[in-house]
Amino acid sequence: MDWITITRALHLIAIVHWIGGLAMVTLVILPGIMRMPQERKLETFLAIEERFAGQAKVSVTVAGLTGLYMVHGLVAWERFLDPGYWWMHAMVLVWAIFTFMLFAAEPLFLHAKVARMADRDPDATFSLMLRAHRILLALATVTVGGAALGAHGMMF
Ligand code: HEM
Repeated sequence: MDWITITRALHLIAIVHWIGGLAMVTLVILPGIMRMPQERKLETFLAIEERFAGQAKVSVTVAGLTGLYMVHGLVAWERFLDPGYWWMHAMVLVWAIFTFMLFAAEPLFLHAKVARMADRDPDATFSLMLRAHRILLALATVTVGGAALGAHGMMF
C-alpha cells in the first residue's frame, strides 16, 4: 500500500472542503449578505460563519497533518531552502494564516471585534471583510495552482 498516495488524496479532500468553502463565502455568501436589510446582516453572517469555522478547523488540521506526513515521507525538507519551491512556502503560509485566524484570533478577539464594528457601521465592516476574504482566496488559488503544477514536475 502506498501511504504517500493515500495521504495525498486526504490532503486534497481537506483542501477542497476548506478552500472551496472559502470560495463559497467570498463569492456567494458575503455578496448576498451585503444586499440584505441592515438588521439581518450580522446575525446571518455569524450563523453561517460559525458553522463553517467549526468544519474548517477539521479540514485545516487534516491538511496540515497530511502535508507534514508527506514532507517527511518524501524527504522534502530541503525544498524549503530552494526558492524554486515557492509553492511549498505558499502552502505553509496559507495554512499558518488560517490556523491563526481559526484557533486564536477568532475565538480570542476577532469575533467580538467584528460584532462591535458591524453594530456601528455594517456597510464598512462587510466591505472590509469581503476585501480580506478576496485577498485570502486569491492567495489560496495561486497556491493550489502552484502546488498542483510544482508537485507534478513543473519548475518555475
Ligand atoms: C502545513 C501546510 C502544508 C504542508 C506541509 C503541505 C505539504 C504538501 C506536500 C509535501 C505535498 C506533496 C508535494 C509533492 O508531491 O511533491 C503537497 C501537495 C499539495 N498541496 Fe499541500 N501542504 C500544506 C498545505 C496546503 C495548502 C494550504 C494548500 C492549498 C491552498 C495545499 C495544496 C496542495 C496541492 C494542490 C498539492 C498537489 C497535489 C498533487 O497534485 O499531487 N497544501 N502539499
